[in-house]
Amino acid sequence: NRPAYIFDLDGVLVDTAVFHYQAWKRLANQLGFDFTVAQNEQLKGVSRVESLEKILDWGGVSKTEAEKLALAQQKNDWYLEMVAQMTASDLLPGVLDFLGQASSAGKKISLGSASKNAPLILEKTGIARFFDAIVDGNEVTLSKPNPEVFLCAARKLGFPPEDCLVFEDAEAGVAAAIAGGMDVIGIGEEGALPEANVLVSDLSKLLQEK
Ligand code: G6P
Ligand code: MG
Repeated sequence: NRPAYIFDLDGVLVDTAVFHYQAWKRLANQLGFDFTVAQNEQLKGVSRVESLEKILDWGGVSKTEAEKLALAQQKNDWYLEMVAQMTASDLLPGVLDFLGQASSAGKKISLGSASKNAPLILEKTGIARFFDAIVDGNEVTLSKPNPEVFLCAARKLGFPPEDCLVFEDAEAGVAAAIAGGMDVIGIGEEGALPEANVLVSDLSKLLQEK
């Protein structure tokens, strides 16, 4: 029963993993190699540049810094074409009600995401209004499992780490929360995220009875 909640974005509030997957796959195919769903799993919580580094590595391709910048830009352009179509119907189950109940209960709410597109996605899906603070890839440089993104969110909300509860779907994100001294609710299928304090399949499982 913590006073502050910190939410990861992709995979917790919205299912953008499939958009990331499609855009990265298109890029990989253009470079002459394939990109699998299993590889995409390993990129959850990983920043755009670091994701690209890994993909080039997997494909056995090396590029100059300038080329990498252009490739990351290309991937993001494709990704944004899909994000442009997003609406509240792209929220994961229970998200709208859970955020509503949390804010009615007086919880302070922050985003803690590696995505530079986070503000746009919150606007498109209509949930920006629930957030007291936003920490995203535009201001944080150290990727999860480094706890920087969550510590920064805690600071913005004005609470010490032990007063914060993190909601995460990525292994790296769960590790980041723990490294930051926070409890964490894992969002995933049974058997996933063994380090999380609690595991649920989605936020609808955490709704208060009405
Ligand atoms: C989240 C996703 C990652 C993505 C990262 C950066 O952490 O789980 O798959 O690479 O955000 O997203 P961006 O929107 O900035 O490319
Ligand atoms: Mg995530």
